[in-house]
Formats: sequence, structure tokens, C-alpha cells
Amino acid sequence: MNQAKLFFSLTLLVLLLIFGAWLAFFFQWSAPMPRTAAPAAIGTGTDTAAAPRALSPLGPVFNPPALEDAPEKIRPMVMLGYKIMTETKKYAPEYVGNDMACTNCHFDGGRSKDTISLVGVAAKYPLYRGRREYTADLALRTQGCFERSMDGKAPAPDSQIMQSLLVYYQWISKGIPIYSTPPWAVLAHHLDNEHKPDAVAGKTVFKDVCARCHGEDGLGTPIAPPLWGDGAYNDGAGMHRIRTFSVFVWRFMPKTDPSLTQEQALDVAAYAHEQPRPKFTATHPNKIERVIPLPGEARQ
Ligand code: HEC
Ligand code: HEC
Repeated sequence: MNQAKLFFSLTLLVLLLIFGAWLAFFFQWSAPMPRTAAPAAIGTGTDTAAAPRALSPLGPVFNPPALEDAPEKIRPMVMLGYKIMTETKKYAPEYVGNDMACTNCHFDGGRSKDTISLVGVAAKYPLYRGRREYTADLALRTQGCFERSMDGKAPAPDSQIMQSLLVYYQWISKGIPIYSTPPWAVLAHHLDNEHKPDAVAGKTVFKDVCARCHGEDGLGTPIAPPLWGDGAYNDGAGMHRIRTFSVFVWRFMPKTDPSLTQEQALDVAAYAHEQPRPKFTATHPNKIERVIPLPGEARQ
């Protein structure tokens, strides 16, 4: 009798624990998480407008595998991809025109959650991109960051640099269901805030908060990359948009201790937007040339 009671209590306890764990997990996912996760309600713009929903009701789980665990045959490319992300100028010198590395915006080579994360990016692409009026793959997307964020030249899709990056993206996206849009891999389109960005107030934010790392002149220091000037991203980069810059700094700056109000983030974005930086010059047409009409499309 006692044994039966004990068995019953134990079973009940185990069931309660499982239920509790499930509840905790569920609410961690569904609770609004300001700053640390992109609010689901904020749109992600034309780039992700056609992105389908996650396949699992709980959504994909953030768990990038260790680089050393990559299968032997692809491991050297995964490792090289990571080096290109983190030491871009050293490993891809002819494609970089400024003093930046990919990791300056995609922290830890995009493996961090508290950044413009690239974990799951291989499951998200190919993706419809408004800029190209077509669905583009990760090689084309990556070329954009080379030409704009790195103020450089685009490596060819069949180059060793591009292929290593693609192998790397795929490995750090392991386990993420294809065609899902992991919530951490989406930078919200803009802050949901009516505040009108004020560059004069932004200058004060810069002096008070940013200058100690990015330098009094904003041109970068040994501990933080430039925000403007010749060494920074050019005026065709995503970060040059006030809305992108403000979401980025509100969520991730100061690094490891984000603390700006949304208003301060918008103001400092307006100030950064006014500073000089390299000009983007297009080297090839943005749009995918439609030689073959798509099914249902009238011939031009
Ligand atoms: C100045 C900041 C900056 C730098 C430097 C930078 N990027 Fe980006 N990158 C961005 C922004 C902003 C986006 C758009 C994010 C969004 O809209 O979700 C982006 C998007 C991407 C994406 C697509 C991500 C997605 O989820 O759609 C890839 C892949 C990428 N970058 C690769 C690179 C690589 C490789 C480099 C270095 C050669 C690089 N980036 C350098 C800012 C940067
Ligand atoms: C504690 C030092 C620190 C402070 C303070 C700080 N940043 Fe940063 N910031 C960094 C570091 C370090 C990186 C690059 C991260 C990496 O490479 O892993 C970075 C990256 C950036 C980037 C993307 C790369 C680039 O240079 O364009 C922007 C934009 C940025 N910070 C803006 C700001 C703004 C605006 C402020 C003030 C509100 C600020 N940061 C305050 C350390 C800091």
C-alpha cells in the first residue's frame, strides 16, 4: 500500500516537473522580450516580407554547434569562413575597402544572439528581396554586405571566400528548420516609437555614451570600430539607415551592456547619419535581370 502511494506521488511529481518545464519554456518564447529579441509584431521590411512562419509551434531553438564539431570534410571551410567573418581584412583583403570586419556588426562571426545574428540564416534564404525585386540567395546577399557595409568589392559566387562563407553559414544554421525565420536572426525593421530623431541631442548621447569606446572623433579605437569617416561603412549600407542604426544601438550598444532609451537611440542615429562616410558606387545593376518571364508574368 505504502509502495503504491510512493509510486503514485513520484509519478505525480515527475508529471508536474515536466509540465513546469514546458510552461517555463513556452513563456520564455512567447513573453515579450524587449531589447534581447526582435518583437514579433514589428515588421521586417521588404526583405523578409515573404518569409514563411516557423515550422514548430515553439519556434526554432538557438543552439549553434561548435565549429570543431563540423564533419571532417567541411571543417576546414567552416573554420576559414569564421576567420573571414572575424578577420576580414586579413583573409579577404582585396574585397575590403574600410577598417571594418564582418564581426563588428555580426558579433562573434554572427554566432551570438545579441547581434545581427547569422545563426539560422541558411534556413531563411533564398529570400525575396525588395532591393532586387527577386528572390536572392546567400551569395548575392553576402555580396551586398561586402560592397556596402565593407565598402569593398564583391567576391564572386564561385570564389573560395564566398564558398567558405556559405559552408560556414550552413554549419551554424544546423538544426534550424528550412524556411523558418528564427526570431533572433531578424533585426526589427524599426523601433515602434513616434519620437522624431534629433541630431543635436544625438551628439550629446554620442559624447556621453559612445565616445569612450568608438573615440571622441567617432573614427574608431583599438577597442571599437569606426562609426563614420573613411574607415566606416558607406552610405549604401543598411546601417546608414536611421531606422536600422537605431534598432541596432538600442538593442546591442554599448556592447555587453545595452542601456539607451529608444529616444536616445533614434537621436544618436540621426547624428551618425549626418557624419561623413564613403560613397557607395554601384558596380552592377541591383535588380535581377528578367530574361525569362516568370510563370504568369507577361513578356516585357
Ligand atoms: C556595418 C555593419 C555591417 C557589417 C560590417 C557587415 N554587415 Fe552583414 N548585415 C548588416 C545589416 C544591417 C544587415 C541586415 C540585417 C537585417 O535586415 O535583418 C546585414 C545582413 C547580412 C546577412 C543576411 C542576414 C539575414 O538574416 O538576412 C548576411 C549573410 C551578412 N550580412 C553577411 C555579412 C558578411 C559576410 C559581412 C562581412 C563581409 C558583413 N555582413 C558585414 C550589417 C553589416
Ligand atoms: C563599451 C564599449 C562600447 C560603447 C560604450 C559603445 N560601443 Fe558600439 N561597439 C563596440 C564594439 C567593441 C563594437 C564591435 C563589436 C565586435 O567587433 O564584436 C561596436 C560596434 C558598433 C557598431 C557597428 C559597427 C560600426 O562601427 O559601425 C555601431 C553602429 C555602434 N557600435 C554604435 C555605437 C553607439 C551609437 C554607441 C553609443 C550609444 C556605442 N556604439 C557605444 C563597443 C562599444
